[in-house]
Amino acid sequence: MRTHHKHVLMCTGPRCTEGGNQAEQMFIKLGQNIDSRPNLKVKRTRSHCVAVCKNGPILVVYPEGVWYRCADEAVLERIVTEHLQDDNEVTEHIIHRLGVGDV
Ligand code: FES
Repeated sequence: MRTHHKHVLMCTGPRCTEGGNQAEQMFIKLGQNIDSRPNLKVKRTRSHCVAVCKNGPILVVYPEGVWYRCADEAVLERIVTEHLQDDNEVTEHIIHRLGVGDV
């Protein structure tokens, strides 16, 4: 396994989006976006459920423990560029924080 600095989990389960279809497409876009940036050391994992179960896709970034509602590809692009690449959280799309709770 390659070295990585962040780990992202995206729920592609059936309840966040209709049948998980939008979330699955977003997961594929996430992979393409990460792979297009060779210096980005991010591991991506599909999750079946992270217990939010509505208004997905839901994207969780570790080690920060930041949970995003990733509503569309524009939000996804911002999370990849601003958070994963530049280490600046996209605060207006955060729904939950590790150790804090819902925000
Ligand atoms: S189905 Fe996505 S959080 Fe439960």
